[in-house]
Amino acid sequence: MTMTHDAPRALDSDLVVDGAQLIGGDWVPAASGETIDVINPATRDVLARIPRSGSDDVEHAVQAAEEALPAWRDLDATSRGRLLFRWADLIEQRADEIDEIERREVGRPSWGPLGVPGQIRFIAGQADKVQGVSLPTYSPEHLGFTLREPYGVVGGIIPWNAPGPMFAVEVGAAIAAGNTMVMKPAEDAPLTPLALAKLALEAGIPAGVINVVTGYGHEAGAAIPAHPRIRRMGFTGSPQTGSLIMEACAKNLTPLHLELGGKSPQVVFGDADLDAAVPAMAMGITLNTGQICAAGSRVVVLRSIHDELVDRLAAQMETITYGPWHQQVNMGPLINEKQHRRVLDYIGVGRDAGADLVTGGAVPTGAGLEDGFFVQPTLFDKVDPDMRIAREEIFGPVLSVIPVDDEEEAVRVANGTDYGLVASVWTRDVGTAVRMSRRLEAGQVGINSPLGAGVIGGPFGGYKNSGFGRTMGADSVLDWTQVKTVSMRDAVAVGR
Ligand code: NAI
Ligand code: MG
Repeated sequence: MTMTHDAPRALDSDLVVDGAQLIGGDWVPAASGETIDVINPATRDVLARIPRSGSDDVEHAVQAAEEALPAWRDLDATSRGRLLFRWADLIEQRADEIDEIERREVGRPSWGPLGVPGQIRFIAGQADKVQGVSLPTYSPEHLGFTLREPYGVVGGIIPWNAPGPMFAVEVGAAIAAGNTMVMKPAEDAPLTPLALAKLALEAGIPAGVINVVTGYGHEAGAAIPAHPRIRRMGFTGSPQTGSLIMEACAKNLTPLHLELGGKSPQVVFGDADLDAAVPAMAMGITLNTGQICAAGSRVVVLRSIHDELVDRLAAQMETITYGPWHQQVNMGPLINEKQHRRVLDYIGVGRDAGADLVTGGAVPTGAGLEDGFFVQPTLFDKVDPDMRIAREEIFGPVLSVIPVDDEEEAVRVANGTDYGLVASVWTRDVGTAVRMSRRLEAGQVGINSPLGAGVIGGPFGGYKNSGFGRTMGADSVLDWTQVKTVSMRDAVAVGR
């Protein structure tokens, strides 16, 4: 279903950075002089150009981060936190502009109030709560304790699906700990990160603490983990690229965390409250057009309730509205032509494998949809757990229903992919909920609560090939520190 709309305004904000990236507090082009167009995926309009950087630019950014490091590391932690709070305030004051930049480059509708200021405040509050421990000693002349220290210059690479929150969480935690950072946003959605970096400078976070290098993954991106003076990495994206990042880090013995997406199951038991489950499941696969690492892309359903669930899910998915970023719709386009091709290919793969296409499956037509990378919300039923659409991350609004006979089979199927990011369970039975919470292999389990939502400060990350390390929790700043044990003895006592 599409909706009518007003003609869009031009994007007019001094927070849109055109042709420049942030290195050492300066807005500079790439050493190559080349640029990459950033498009609006609903219209293919060019929003801005970004520098096409490579290893020379990353070297430049690492040097800038090294220069900024001593003063930032040695600034007292309360002052570091205060600067992050000020950053959050500035973002909040300009939330509408930031939201519009992100909606245009990602192609999503408005989600209401911007979450980024709250995310940064949660992190800012941790800045001066990074504590070591006191250690027992063999004699009263000794003192022993641990210090939590930043790694130094650290690197980050983020994807395009939620560029604002990804940037805030990764950069915020790293710098709150006293590190300085070289961050590469995705070439498809770098404008929100650049805008946030601009506001960080305005907030008084010193030049060189946050450096944003733009460009392609195999060029600017690859140069970051390959750099020997990057002391720690954070990466979010595909398992294929994550594996390349880890290889590069292995060569330099650089520690890292990886967040690599999922094939998250939603297990529906016979006693599930379908009034709650059905809308949540439809939203879980269409929010951000299914381009969410936590998307609940498999419905594992007990046969007793299967037919009713599929009927209601199909009806619900047919109510999902889509259109460009400025409309009050549920869903925008996919991010780019490659993802469009990929999602349509997977729909073909599902059909060819013999899954039942219940609804969707096509590129929608209609006014305002001509130039965008749109795809209908798509529901496959009678999906076999061995089919590729049941095992591989599609990253689009494509939901696969897999019927099962009992709880044992539900667990086996739910755990039967290489991924393990989020798992949801729909049941009214406490015993089922307890058993499933323990048995599901996932970093987040939601009982009657999809996408791991509803919790403040839940650590977020994967089991199995979904990655390792946790972000967003109460120890997310601690995670960007290393431990030093200090033992001390009274010098007079030494001579005794
Ligand atoms: P990707 O993993 O290739 O890209 C993510 C980030 O890594 C971008 O900033 C990109 O420029 C960078 N990158 C790419 N190649 C690199 C390299 N060789 N060295 C260093 N950095 C590199 O993901 P892509 O190609 O955009 O999407 C492909 C699939 O990956 C999606 O369909 C989806 O399944 C998955 N994905 C998962 C995400 C998640 O949230 N876990 C986010 C984005 C994609
Ligand atoms: Mg790629």
